[in-house]
Amino acid sequence: MKVLVLNGPNLGRLGTREPDIYGATTYADLVGLCEATGRELGVEVEVRQTDSEGELLGWLHEAADAGTPVVLNAAAWTHYSIAVRDACSQLTAPLIEVHISNVHKREDFRGHSVLSAIAEGVIVGLGVQGYQLAIRWLADRA
Ligand code: DQA
Repeated sequence: MKVLVLNGPNLGRLGTREPDIYGATTYADLVGLCEATGRELGVEVEVRQTDSEGELLGWLHEAADAGTPVVLNAAAWTHYSIAVRDACSQLTAPLIEVHISNVHKREDFRGHSVLSAIAEGVIVGLGVQGYQLAIRWLADRA
């Protein structure tokens, strides 16, 4: 079984980006944590990050064609990108939406996600552990 972990804009700057909100874990640490979780569970985990919406759409199309489950932190696109939502709608395997911070404790505009209604589940506010929990849930389900 394979899981794609996809990250949207600015998440490549984890560790230096607003550490009071997103923590000290770097993006490289996040990749390592997700891969280690995959190894522990016998799941192939591939982690990617992009600041380009078109690139994320291409990755979602790839996951749709391959029937691959997706753990997605679409970052700011979460709140307004109908294009990302439409690409997620094409997925046939489960989609888990993850946010490192508790978006509901922050600015009002972060409280709305255009993705949650089509996600199997949503994990917010548990830091990078949210990704590990999402991978574990997908592995248990397989
Ligand atoms: C985020 C929350 C979003 O509101 C924000 O735009 C991000 C990161 C999170 O992981 O907490 O870039 O998705």
